[in-house]
Amino acid sequence: MQRNLKVAERAKVPAFEVMSILDRVAQLRAAGRNVVSLCAGEPGDGAPSAVSRRAAQIHAEGTPLTYTPALGIRELRQAIAGHYKRWYNIEVPAANVAVTTGSSGAFMLLFLAAFNAGDKVALARPGYPAYANILRTLGIDVVELAAGPESRYQPSVELLEAAWEKHGHLDGLVLASPANPTGTMVSGSELDDLAIWCRERGVRLVSDEIYHGIDYPEPGAQTRRSVSSWELDADTVVISSFSKYWGMTGWRLGWALVPDDLLPTVDALAGNVALCPPAPAQYAALAAFGEDSYREAEARVAEFSGARATLLAALPRLGWGECAPADGAFYLYADLGEKLGSFADSSQYCAALLEAQGVAIVPGVDFDAVDGGRRVRLSFAAGLGQVTEAIERIVRFQNGHSVSA
Ligand SMILES: Cc1ncc(COP(=O)(O)O)c(C=O)c1O
Repeated sequence: MQRNLKVAERAKVPAFEVMSILDRVAQLRAAGRNVVSLCAGEPGDGAPSAVSRRAAQIHAEGTPLTYTPALGIRELRQAIAGHYKRWYNIEVPAANVAVTTGSSGAFMLLFLAAFNAGDKVALARPGYPAYANILRTLGIDVVELAAGPESRYQPSVELLEAAWEKHGHLDGLVLASPANPTGTMVSGSELDDLAIWCRERGVRLVSDEIYHGIDYPEPGAQTRRSVSSWELDADTVVISSFSKYWGMTGWRLGWALVPDDLLPTVDALAGNVALCPPAPAQYAALAAFGEDSYREAEARVAEFSGARATLLAALPRLGWGECAPADGAFYLYADLGEKLGSFADSSQYCAALLEAQGVAIVPGVDFDAVDGGRRVRLSFAAGLGQVTEAIERIVRFQNGHSVSA
């Protein structure tokens, strides 16, 4: 008998196009094909060695890995506060640091704490799809800001004014700098303008700073460090993670800097939603703030920088259209321009490229349902060798050869 059980409407987020590419990559590899994948938004070589050693020690010593406080162990919250002193020269009270299950866990907690169902939260399109998907499942209205090259694909005061005019009062703004999929950044003064605009209108700014530390200054620039929204206003929410700069994606550890007014709510919620962030990862992550770990992370950023330079130098050969300036993170977001050729959209282009030349890249529709059909995202976290090989194969593909590797 057919049972009439329901699946919640609010939970039905769209599936990612990239999943079908990743499934096909796995099939091709299982069949012995040599596939170059520039899909993954993560560094391949894992945590700094001191973190891995510390994790091994924790397990060897039989440390009882019981629940920790809901907002994380005191030492880690203090160490994260120390990181803000080191990088941004600001004093962050450890009490305002909430350790979370990846930055993804922080988004869920902070969106729940800061917004009611029916509130309106603005964000840039293109953008990281989970923001809009989580917000919508919580019944929050997403106001997409169509951000293009004139604002480096980032929210701007002009875009916000126009959205306010059209949609009325906004309750929040989610900003990521460097961003996924574009890698673009807002400058310190642009962030300041956005923070002031938000403060004057009672809009909660949520600043995703997960790619901080991974940026590429102009040669000769004095400082390359991104500006944190807490340098400007401690009523904003900062969200960050061990995933990218420290390469610890699978450890599921992130954090938020939580403004005073949200703190009791976030504390109470955290204990209910996840009880605590993963204990082994918390103890091991203390070693992420040692000098050796920073050195290893910086060496990796230098490697990304080399892969990025090679990719940017190859753009004339690739013959694509508008490319977002890859200021930071490890992404290049490009319009395929005339190279889209007879393909209906970039999803078809990506699928054909994978079959013909064994190169996996991500179509833009996952990040931008309106204009992403002409665009692709390449992740150069895969490293120089893979990027160099991918460029040669893409050029061959576009020249009409379909010889498989
Ligand atoms: C912009 C951005 N924010 C947040 C996340 C989530 O990362 P995590 O939950 O591993 O911290 C990602 C992952 O790719 C991302 O690109």
